[in-house]
Amino acid sequence: GLRISKLLGETGTVTYDPGFANTASLKSDITYIDGDAGVLRYRGYDIEELTEKSTFVEVAYLLIYGELPTPDQLAAWDARLRRHTLLHEDMRRFFQAFPYDAHPMPMVSASIAAMSTFYQDSLSVHDEEQIDLSTVRLLAKMPTIAAFAHRKAQGLPVVFPDNDLGLVENFLRVNFGFPSEQYEIDPLAAKALDQLFILHADHEQNCSTSTVRLVGSSQANLYQSISAGINALAGPLHGGANSAVLEMLEDIKASDDGAKSFMERVKNKEDGVRLMGFGHRVYKNYDPRAAIIKKTADEVLEKLGGNDELLDLAKSIEEIALADDYFVERKLYPNVDFYTGLIYKALGFPTNMFTVLFAVGRLPGWIAQWREMITDPETKIGRPRQIYTGSGLRQYTQLHER
Ligand code: ACO
Repeated sequence: GLRISKLLGETGTVTYDPGFANTASLKSDITYIDGDAGVLRYRGYDIEELTEKSTFVEVAYLLIYGELPTPDQLAAWDARLRRHTLLHEDMRRFFQAFPYDAHPMPMVSASIAAMSTFYQDSLSVHDEEQIDLSTVRLLAKMPTIAAFAHRKAQGLPVVFPDNDLGLVENFLRVNFGFPSEQYEIDPLAAKALDQLFILHADHEQNCSTSTVRLVGSSQANLYQSISAGINALAGPLHGGANSAVLEMLEDIKASDDGAKSFMERVKNKEDGVRLMGFGHRVYKNYDPRAAIIKKTADEVLEKLGGNDELLDLAKSIEEIALADDYFVERKLYPNVDFYTGLIYKALGFPTNMFTVLFAVGRLPGWIAQWREMITDPETKIGRPRQIYTGSGLRQYTQLHER
């Protein structure tokens, strides 16, 4: 709370708050975080209870509509999501046109933006039915789009969704189910992925969610707003951190020096090296999501086989950190990204898909936040102020006189 200050601009006093670290620009009923206590709740329900008892499809309903569904509501919701998984044939052709070595994340944001061109009957931001249709289309098609991007980036043929399967099982199938007749879904893989999606489903006003709201505040449609959020998530300081953790662990393993000497480099701030997957703007205690994921990582790597050496390395780094004054004094604990990459890798995803997986999980939160924004009578177009620091009035010099 120290960098906030009031400065006098030409039009009066404005608040100077870089990174909006202390500015609340809206009221929200959706997600509650207590960073000091390490608490995260969706619509009042603790994240621990939701990951244990609920499913991603149900959590999406909860975030968007505000209440847990009744059995009938859940069945209808699930059926709607299954019905909308297919993409327009012309959309499928996009994936042939992207460069063979393209990263999947921009393929996904471009495809979501293009939904505005294919689904013109659901672009209204005022008609509740159309908003609901675009909601269902996004939730159902995003897994298909993500998997098509994955398979394109691997040079593999696409696999079509099977509507007999639920959202998460289908997601595994469209990513890995080739040839599809022989593909069997591992229940543990499905459970782990479901849980990871729940953990990522919302996190109040983070960079990508604020982007979705800001773009939407101009009354741009839901597809356009979500596409912007995906681009915001792509950055290494946000969703991109999950792949950075895995690269860091692999680098440490490949070097001769080991974890201890890497940690010395972090503490000495050598070349600005940071312990990726540690620290958080809001959590100054153990990130509750990281605690849940650590347990899942143990289970998945044990049963599905993964890189145990990397998991052991991650755990030893955590142990060193939790006993070291540098990290203790700065309240640096593992965040959600510290263990996720190890699980994604054990499930068979390449590193460049990790941030896409984050996007698939975060989608219900973005949609819920956009819908709250668009129906809130207090919403105004987002338009921050600035402190002008440029030159005063100058006279124009003709080109030949410069
Ligand atoms: N490793 C080493 N030192 C760290 C780390 C880290 N991961 N994170 C913070 N610090 C130190 C800083 O050097 C600073 O020390 P100083 O007081 O001696 O200068 C102090 O802790 C405070 O750090 P800030 O950068 O001011 O904290 P901020 O809240 O701005 O940053 C952030 C939060 C960006 C997450 C930071 O902790 C970080 O870079 N972590 C690594 C990247 C990462 O894991 N990002 C994922 C975040 S979670 C998500 O987006 C889903």
